[in-house]
Amino acid sequence: MTDIRMLLNKPEFPRSGRYEPDWVLENQMGPNALWLAEWLSNALPLKPGMRVLDLGCGRSLTSIFMAREFGVQVWAADLWITPDHNRKRAEAAGVGDLVFPLRAEAHALPFSNVFFDVIVSVDAYQYFGTDVLYLSYLSRFLRPDGFVGIVVPGLMQPIDDIPEHLSRPLANGKVFWEDECWSFKTPDWWRKHWRRNSTMSDIRVDTLQDGWRYWYEFEKILEATGKSVFPSDAEGLERDQGRYLGFVRAIARRTGHAGANLYDPAIGIHSGVDR
Ligand SMILES: C[S@@+](CC[C@H](N)C(=O)[O-])C[C@H]1O[C@@H](n2cnc3c(N)ncnc32)[C@H](O)[C@@H]1O
Repeated sequence: MTDIRMLLNKPEFPRSGRYEPDWVLENQMGPNALWLAEWLSNALPLKPGMRVLDLGCGRSLTSIFMAREFGVQVWAADLWITPDHNRKRAEAAGVGDLVFPLRAEAHALPFSNVFFDVIVSVDAYQYFGTDVLYLSYLSRFLRPDGFVGIVVPGLMQPIDDIPEHLSRPLANGKVFWEDECWSFKTPDWWRKHWRRNSTMSDIRVDTLQDGWRYWYEFEKILEATGKSVFPSDAEGLERDQGRYLGFVRAIARRTGHAGANLYDPAIGIHSGVDR
């Protein structure tokens, strides 16, 4: 495990390197969530006591990381992972009083308006946030001047068709490109997508330098330890060398008024449409 600890401990992510390798690997649901959360948190003004929503938190590694590192309170919301297990993980990590797990669907969030100082999402926003209506909906839960920050797997250049090296089967039989990869977008795409929203300003979008390499290295660690639940994507990432694959970070500040909540099933009644 000493070698694995060294592999997970990167000088560019000093906070992440302090977490137990077994804990990181056994609770992972994709490319190392702690490295991505640390990169995201470097761009956010996280202060003790702030209210943070971690949307699509999975097994809540990122929620626990933010609570421990910054003393923020985190509402750890996820669809697929039960909150009971996330509560036990948070308690075991010593932040049971700062992390509040719940099951929630991203279009029906059970919070009051302007509740959060910051909303974060790591490797999850691509599943629901490519809808042009979504950021407007989400922004209602942020206080004025609050921030939303996401990290998603993304494309480093636009594509019309699937690159051949990503559709050719890997030696393990897997094909890298699955339909869900169409939710990977370029930084430019995310910038334009978020700029269409009048509730948010100060939009900053960038990419993680050599992001593909972190993703590749984490896949190799999972291969070496046998901890992955899925066949490895390492060969696809190695073929790609970051030409297309990597990570995109987007940050924005809430400055405008929220519009109508178009995901609210009661909207028809409120608006008189259903009378
Ligand atoms: C790849 S996992 C990443 C989990 C975690 N953020 C991490 O990095 O370890 C994506 C997560 O997004 C969540 N998710 C997907 N669609 C969702 C939705 N509509 N509402 C809430 N969560 C969603 C899933 O439950 C899943 O845990």
